[in-house]
Amino acid sequence: MKIKDLSINGRTFLAPLAGITNLPFRLLVKECGCGVVCSEMVSAKGIFYNSEKTLNLLSSKKIEQPLSVQLFGSDPDSMAKGASFVQDLNVAGIIDINFGCSVKKVVKQGAGVALMQEPELSKTILTAVRKAIDLPLTIKIRSGWDHSGQQAFKIAQIAQDAGVNAIAMHPRTASQGFKGTANWDLIAKLKQQLSIPVIGNGDINTVEDAQKMITDTGCDAVMVGRAAMKNPFILAQIDDFLASGSYKRSSNYEIFRTMERLTRMYVTYFGEKPACKMLRGRLSWFIKGMPGCSAFRRNLSCISSENHILTLIKEFETALV
Ligand SMILES: Cc1cc2nc3c(=O)[nH]c(=O)nc-3n(C[C@H](O)[C@H](O)[C@H](O)COP(=O)(O)O)c2cc1C
Repeated sequence: MKIKDLSINGRTFLAPLAGITNLPFRLLVKECGCGVVCSEMVSAKGIFYNSEKTLNLLSSKKIEQPLSVQLFGSDPDSMAKGASFVQDLNVAGIIDINFGCSVKKVVKQGAGVALMQEPELSKTILTAVRKAIDLPLTIKIRSGWDHSGQQAFKIAQIAQDAGVNAIAMHPRTASQGFKGTANWDLIAKLKQQLSIPVIGNGDINTVEDAQKMITDTGCDAVMVGRAAMKNPFILAQIDDFLASGSYKRSSNYEIFRTMERLTRMYVTYFGEKPACKMLRGRLSWFIKGMPGCSAFRRNLSCISSENHILTLIKEFETALV
């Protein structure tokens, strides 16, 4: 699969997940195997105003390439300048524009999914960003405000006409948030409408779900979010399954090594104290459903050092066998 002149290895994208797809997590998923990893959403205004917090989100490492950096905003000028800034940093293989975030503070500034109600402004933004960068440009949309998908089809057409190179669709409405189910029929319809690649997203919980989405919708690639938070191997497993019809399930041994690896990477990247705080809510996802996971989750609430975390993981692993 190609997005503009960029060849993508495999057919999998790690979805952008604010607060989750930071550099350590992306590196972990990339190590497990994945076509493209996406950054958390980055504020174009934050780049414009040189916000340290925003610029930190743009940290990257060569091995995670091609990295898709997602920008959000509603002002054409700062979006174009932000995109150009990111291109000049040389960290991104793709620039993605967020048309899907339904979080209040984003929608309030007219960004994210709010743009889906503003076709003229969307056209101005995309035209300005396209003019500002040579990198492959993608957008990530929802189905719109109501269930018809009409806003998605309209914005997608505007995007394709403005020179956008691929579109990811999460077919839930703005008001749905994450409730209900993603309407994959809309992905199939979008695929029929567009000549650029369509990336299907929403409710892929298993490898088999990914295969089903591709079969049912004809989408060119799949994007996985929440399932990758629990199983960072899932994207590699999907690519293996699509290529060969089989895949290797991750063993408990691999899961525990992955938890240790993420812990170490978090500590290296964020520092021990902040890493411990962040990992409290994070590590238990990997072992959800295993006997004793509730007690493990409770123990995580008081972790205070890297060694403490590694000991808890080892104890949990030993108790399992
Ligand atoms: C915690 C969290 C953070 C998210 N952050 C973003 C984001 O920054 N940008 C974006 O376009 N979508 C964001 N999303 C939406 C996901 O990218 C994805 O579209 C959604 O989770 C549906 O896919 P899934 O069923 O594979 O999780 C977020 C979702 C979650 C759960």
